[in-house]
Amino acid sequence: MFFKKKIKFFLFGLLDNLKSRYEYYLTETCCARLQKVGKEVNIAPDAVISPYANFLLNHKSVMSIGAETQIRNYVSIKVRGELTIGRNVEIVYFSIIHCDKRIVIGDNCMIAESVSIRDHDHNYHLSDIPFVEQGFKRADVIIGNNVWIGAKSSVFKGVNIGDNVVIGANSVVVKDIPSDSVAVGAPARIIKKLE
Ligand SMILES: CC(C)(COP(=O)(O)OP(=O)(O)OC[C@H]1O[C@@H](n2cnc3c(N)ncnc32)[C@H](O)[C@@H]1OP(=O)(O)O)[C@@H](O)C(=O)NCCC(=O)NCCS
Repeated sequence: MFFKKKIKFFLFGLLDNLKSRYEYYLTETCCARLQKVGKEVNIAPDAVISPYANFLLNHKSVMSIGAETQIRNYVSIKVRGELTIGRNVEIVYFSIIHCDKRIVIGDNCMIAESVSIRDHDHNYHLSDIPFVEQGFKRADVIIGNNVWIGAKSSVFKGVNIGDNVVIGANSVVVKDIPSDSVAVGAPARIIKKLE
């Protein structure tokens, strides 16, 4: 049984590593080039994307960025799955969005500086195979409308954040946060409800 599990992790890891070799780095942001690299890339014509934001997409990536959305300097966005960013969203300096499966960010959201949003973790269950070779565990991240995520916060795989939510600075969101609430801390817990 243990042997079977080991083989499974080894093969998944191998596959993940091979897949990542076929990604393309784009160090400058040019919507036309992004559209060529990804499978389906839609960027609203009035979205404002800094030339100092970094995008890493592969040929399977699906990405859409809504109208009036602003992506600032040194934001890093990596997509191997499906990323949807709504309209009038602001993603500020040094934030990271790494999407291996599916990440949805609703409309009118504010993502402050150095926020990290990821929908996957490395597998780490075997001690005799390097973690880097054990592949990933993935789960969708869904962020609703009108969500403000404070600086230096992290949102982890499988998390659902409802509408009208504030996440305090330096929070670590590992579980769902319902609509109309303020959550802070590591792990993030609700401290206030909105009327
Ligand atoms: C979450 C936040 C909006 C709450 O502000 P607030 O409504 O004025 O809350 P309060 O200051 O009344 O704090 C309420 C309680 O939560 C605690 N708290 C507030 N923010 C916290 C945080 N980020 N982490 C841990 N605890 C926090 C307070 O210490 C206080 O605890 P107490 O009741 O035991 O004294 C604010 O603290 C915050 O984190 N803002 C994000 C700032 C930021 O990242 N800005 C980026 C620019 S877009």
